[in-house]
Amino acid sequence: MCGDSRHPSAAFLHSFLSLSQALCQNLGDLHVTGPLKDMNFSVPEGGGVRVIYQFTSEPPAVSFRATGEKDGIIDIVPKTGVLYLSGSLDWETKTVHRLQVESLDEKGNVVKGPYAVTIHVEDINDNPPEFDQIKYTGVVRQNSRPGKPFMHVHATDRDDPTTPHAQLTYSILHHFPNPYTEMLFQINNVTGAISPSVTGSYYLDPQKQDTFTLVVTVKDMAGMTMNAFTSSADVIITVKESLWKAPPTIRIQENSTQIYPVNISQVHSNEPDVIYDLFEKEKLPRLPFSIDQNGVIYVTDPLDREEKDTYSFFVVTKDNKGELVDKPLHIHVIVEDINDNPPVCQQALTVIEVQENEDEGSNIGTLLATDMDEEGTLNSRLQFKIGSQVPAVPASNLFFIQQETGILQLTSRSLNRRIASNYSLKVLVTDAVFQTICDVQIYVIDINDQIPIFEKSDYHNVTVAESLPVGTVILEIQATDGDEPATGSSYIIYQVKEGDPNNTFIIETDSVTNRGFVKINKALDFEAASVYNLVISATNPEPLVPGVQYNSSSLTLFKVFVTNVDEPPVFHKTVYKAEVSEDIPVNTLVMTVEAYDPEGDTVRYSLEGDVRKWLRVNSATGQVYTASTLDREQQGTYTVEVAASELTQKSKTTLILHLRDVNDNPPLLAMDYPPFFCHPLRGGERAFIQAADADEQWYYPTFTFSLADDMNARNNWEISKINATHAYLSPKHANFEEKVYNVPVIINDNGKPPLERKVNLKVNICKCSSEKSCFIEVQRDHSWPSTGQAIGILTGVLLIIGTSLLLG
Ligand SMILES: *[C@@H]1O[C@H](CO)[C@@H](O)[C@H](O)[C@H]1NC(C)=O
Ligand SMILES: *[C@@H]1O[C@H](CO)[C@@H](O)[C@H](O)[C@H]1NC(C)=O
Ligand SMILES: *[C@@H]1O[C@H](CO)[C@@H](O)[C@H](O)[C@H]1NC(C)=O
Ligand SMILES: *[C@@H]1O[C@H](CO)[C@@H](O)[C@H](O)[C@H]1NC(C)=O
Ligand SMILES: *[C@@H]1O[C@H](CO)[C@@H](O)[C@H](O)[C@H]1NC(C)=O
Ligand SMILES: *[C@@H]1O[C@H](CO)[C@@H](O)[C@H](O)[C@H]1NC(C)=O
Ligand SMILES: *[C@@H]1O[C@H](CO)[C@@H](O)[C@H](O)[C@H]1NC(C)=O
Ligand SMILES: *[C@@H]1O[C@H](CO)[C@@H](O)[C@H](O)[C@H]1NC(C)=O
Ligand SMILES: *[C@@H]1O[C@H](CO)[C@@H](O)[C@H](O)[C@H]1NC(C)=O
Repeated sequence: MCGDSRHPSAAFLHSFLSLSQALCQNLGDLHVTGPLKDMNFSVPEGGGVRVIYQFTSEPPAVSFRATGEKDGIIDIVPKTGVLYLSGSLDWETKTVHRLQVESLDEKGNVVKGPYAVTIHVEDINDNPPEFDQIKYTGVVRQNSRPGKPFMHVHATDRDDPTTPHAQLTYSILHHFPNPYTEMLFQINNVTGAISPSVTGSYYLDPQKQDTFTLVVTVKDMAGMTMNAFTSSADVIITVKESLWKAPPTIRIQENSTQIYPVNISQVHSNEPDVIYDLFEKEKLPRLPFSIDQNGVIYVTDPLDREEKDTYSFFVVTKDNKGELVDKPLHIHVIVEDINDNPPVCQQALTVIEVQENEDEGSNIGTLLATDMDEEGTLNSRLQFKIGSQVPAVPASNLFFIQQETGILQLTSRSLNRRIASNYSLKVLVTDAVFQTICDVQIYVIDINDQIPIFEKSDYHNVTVAESLPVGTVILEIQATDGDEPATGSSYIIYQVKEGDPNNTFIIETDSVTNRGFVKINKALDFEAASVYNLVISATNPEPLVPGVQYNSSSLTLFKVFVTNVDEPPVFHKTVYKAEVSEDIPVNTLVMTVEAYDPEGDTVRYSLEGDVRKWLRVNSATGQVYTASTLDREQQGTYTVEVAASELTQKSKTTLILHLRDVNDNPPLLAMDYPPFFCHPLRGGERAFIQAADADEQWYYPTFTFSLADDMNARNNWEISKINATHAYLSPKHANFEEKVYNVPVIINDNGKPPLERKVNLKVNICKCSSEKSCFIEVQRDHSWPSTGQAIGILTGVLLIIGTSLLLG
């Protein structure tokens, strides 16, 4: 009976009050009696009539008296000293009751006291949370940023805010309509802020659906237990069109005389009180645009299409903390052309040569001019006209220019160097607005009736080493031409006509002296060609007049003897590559390298940089063998150098060995922390286990997980596959002690052949501070653990909670 005294019934209380201490010897053991002194009690609210404590009296005291905040429900039985409740405490009404207790003697005089007896009322979760409105309404704009709240809901709970009883968590229960797999809205479970989800930010569209009803709930106990109280409220959301839209491409006429800045467009944010700003896409010395705080975009200076014909930049909105509010809007500006550029002659003076005997109608050259205004428009259309011809002899209209193309032609066959050796033309080039004058100088040149004649018909020979560098001049030659100097009729082009199929030589002409320089054009190679018998021709760029022909005086002979230089061996390939399995036996031939010596000397091979001592080479044959066991997991691509040497020379090449994987590594567990489960188990818990493998995988590794053949393990645990790399470990029942269990798990990989590893998984069954961490209690008599030591945090535990709640 006495053992039950913490939860007495009214009947029990009655009998208890009338009992003497002697009849209930066990009371002392329960620590519910003691001498009168200052005392603090902690009593849960509710629960009705009950005994709190009994004060024992010492003579001469015979009775007790309590005063203070008894509030009609706390009192002391004068004779027995039993402090009791005659009704229920209510934390929400009063959290602390302060009493003064005295002991009295027979005459009613105070013997001891008054002592402070304080009763702290402990909250119990007896109040559901309440929303401050039954129904909330909110407005969201299309394309709002995900996670940016546009409204809040709020609920209160009268329970003790320092306990989980008043820890509220919000969630969305229903979402009407819900056309996508993911909700369009989300709620912050702590603040009650409602915002569009990523999906919502993308899909919300008032044209499709402009009203949504959400049912939001609030739970106390942080939503963590099944017996938390829940309330709900409706949230009506109206979707409005986004104001935040990029304007269509803006067209601005260049070089405009308006007063700057000029308003070219305006944008509007969906949010009030944002700061508008421009963000450059291209790095310009200066962006000629600005935006004001109403979103009006201005061009700040006249634009020049010929300098830059399009602009592209972003308008951004920021809040007062500098965070972006809307998605940046892309603004395109096209600068429209006006005819503000005159035609430009391509050359200050266009020089044209014409032979005396040229026919009428002949096309003698083209005057080139450009206009920077927009191509393909009338602003850049050019027309040509001859303004003047000096001298005007033998006629004033010797030349004609095609109006649209600038092509110059002869109007008659009347040029004569004795009458005029040159003419100056002024050509008028016009676009719709501007006119430019271009100068043309026309030289009448002698006809090409002389052939170049070589000073020697045979330059005999030179002997050169094959190592002579490209570009070296090996011979100078000379021919002369009797035509007018410095014209295409006398300028000489030298060419190797015969004896040089691979263009090993090239001849350059000095345009003043017509001297020719025979140079090496490509590397010589004694082994490929040791003698060249060259035949060299001399010709003019201008054609010869009819009746005159080149003859053998325009040809000369020349021999080149190439001498040998001792050259290093040459490998057949610039790089040798091979691929082998990592498990091939020692002394396997992996490849053969081969080099030859241009002089035919014997070549010997050696390896350099074989840091792992994996390879050796037969110095005579170039065969490369494995020298020890290879291992792809140490190095997948092995690169060494092979050297080929002859008596004095040496060359090197690269040998690359790719190792093919062989399944030679058993799989491993790949988790930062071993799994744990919270004690006591509720049933339905499960935890991830994950494996990995050092071997190369075909796309991705595939493992199988199983329990070892162990009675204990199979009775207690279960493994279920999730996918190729993950499985769940779940307890088969809930009767686990709070300790570390060894679970023998076997993991197999999918190699050929597969490898297996047995691991002892240490699974902790432990007290948890929350479902996120394993917890060791240090003060067992606290009713709500607040301190402790987390010994492991496992990612993905939220899924475990969710699952176990669903299953439980
Ligand atoms: C009762 O609690 C108060 C405040 O927490 C404390 O100051 C006082 O010492 C306590 N008295 C006893 C007897 O524990
Ligand atoms: C509340 O939301 C946070 C972040 O989204 C999450 O980590 C936490 O687990 C949630 N709490 C509950 C009780 O759902
Ligand atoms: C700026 O120009 C836009 C059209 O380009 C116009 O809609 C807007 O009202 C103008 N804003 C101001 C402040 O003049
Ligand atoms: C603007 O036009 C005037 C004539 O219309 C011209 O003289 C000036 O060079 C032009 N400016 C630019 C930058 O093209
Ligand atoms: C061009 O012709 C003029 C006579 O018309 C003459 O004096 C001048 O030397 C000539 N210039 C050349 C480079 O031939
Ligand atoms: C090379 O030319 C020299 C004269 O420069 C001549 O004496 C010699 O015989 C020539 N050698 C050959 C092989 O033609
Ligand atoms: C020209 O090149 C070809 C192919 O590279 C080679 O076989 C031949 O020997 C070369 N001839 C001379 C004269 O260098
Ligand atoms: C080649 O032609 C020129 C005249 O054009 C002449 O002087 C020369 O003798 C000719 N040479 C030979 C080898 O016929
Ligand atoms: C296997 O499942 C785990 C847990 O659901 C997941 O994190 C992982 O990405 C999955 N792996 C594959 C290859 O699907």
